[in-house]
Amino acid sequence: MTRTTAHHDPAKDRVNIGATCANLGGAGIGGSNKLENLFVTGGAGFIGSAFVRLVFEEMPHCEVVNFDALTYAGNLENLDGLDESRHHFVHGNICDRDAVLAALDEGTDAIVNFAAESHVDRSIHSAHEFINTNVLGTQVLLDAARERGVSRFLQVSTDEVMGSLTEDDEAFFTEDSPFQPNSPYAASKASAEQLVRAAHHTFGLDTLITRCGNNYGPRQFPEKFLPLMLANALNDEPIPVYGDGLNVRDWIYVEDHCRAVLTLLAQGRSGGTYNIGARNERRNIDVAHSVLDALGKPRSLIRSVKDRPGHDRRYAIDPRLIEHEFGWRPRETWESGLHKTIDWYRDNTGWLDRVRSGAYREYYSRQYGVEADAH
Ligand code: NAD
Ligand code: DAU
Repeated sequence: MTRTTAHHDPAKDRVNIGATCANLGGAGIGGSNKLENLFVTGGAGFIGSAFVRLVFEEMPHCEVVNFDALTYAGNLENLDGLDESRHHFVHGNICDRDAVLAALDEGTDAIVNFAAESHVDRSIHSAHEFINTNVLGTQVLLDAARERGVSRFLQVSTDEVMGSLTEDDEAFFTEDSPFQPNSPYAASKASAEQLVRAAHHTFGLDTLITRCGNNYGPRQFPEKFLPLMLANALNDEPIPVYGDGLNVRDWIYVEDHCRAVLTLLAQGRSGGTYNIGARNERRNIDVAHSVLDALGKPRSLIRSVKDRPGHDRRYAIDPRLIEHEFGWRPRETWESGLHKTIDWYRDNTGWLDRVRSGAYREYYSRQYGVEADAH
């Protein structure tokens, strides 16, 4: 499925501050904001760990405090190989004000908040932790940012706050799309956005909100569709596809998302909200076919299973604002990103086996009514 965007261009109505900024250093990520000391939350998770890796690659003088509660989704193995002289891991919960303040230095240039409960199916089972971490935890961080005089606060949000689109090719999420969250997860992320907005409006905190679509890449916990398929197919286990398999998601390689976040951290308009997307809409069934074909596994592994309650039909992001203001573009195609992802999972079966043990097996049998194989 491909598409073009042909409606109003919001970028034309805005000042291009990116073009006036100095370059931070060799990476094409220009910016006027000093970014030498970052406080990254959720940096032991899938996207947060990719972000820390990218920061170290692109900004040789930047140090990172990585603050993470190590929930089921957080994994210290995701941080293997990072330069320990610049990486300072702190085990802590963003809901714990004292712990956050103890770890947050006065000289911090920015907080980047990745920490969240991130899986829609889990939020349907129980919303409690989603409200705690995603809503209350975000407010704790906003308060701490003000108390410590942190210059910027970037909230990593999601396209899901804007609800579900129809299958109409002309419909896209723009930065001005209304909030219509449909799952407890999406509602918690929308609430967090509102708190960030309020901190900017009332207290003048320099904030940014980014809304991205479905990420894929190395180190993604195999409760999410793509790594779950990879893990199952590599073990010749069935692949569960919800409902008719025709729901559409807009996929982006994780490093492309992280590069967009870094670009916005350096250059984004204070108080701004930016969509991030790679113009890569695909139906779930087609994604399943891509994965199985790439692995050389039979499509007969696919099983249609009971649909997710309230399952959003289609997500599609209009990324023109970040493209036009900052020249950001994804570097990976679907094919190249999938290839890299598959290679990583094939080369890291130990990582996969370890995260698929214990609590994962309980989750899997509750969600799918069958056991995941232990390996
Ligand atoms: P993830 O579930 O892989 O990782 C979340 C991380 O946050 C884990 O390391 C976990 O230990 C940590 N964490 C959870 N609760 C915490 C708490 N109370 N205090 C401190 N740390 C805590 O999530 P992800 O897929 O990497 O997503 C990261 C962020 O990006 C989330 O905010 C999510 O809403 C957003 N997002 C994700 C996607 C996606 O496709 N995965 C797309 C758009 C936006
Ligand atoms: O769009 C951004 C969002 O993408 C992020 O905010 C979320 O944190 C992230 O989890 C993701 O949400 P989705 O619900 O879209 O992702 P998930 O991987 O759970 O599902 C992708 C699609 O695949 C969705 O239509 C549901 C379907 N699916 C999922 C699972 C786990 C299946 O068909 N079978 C499955 O077993």
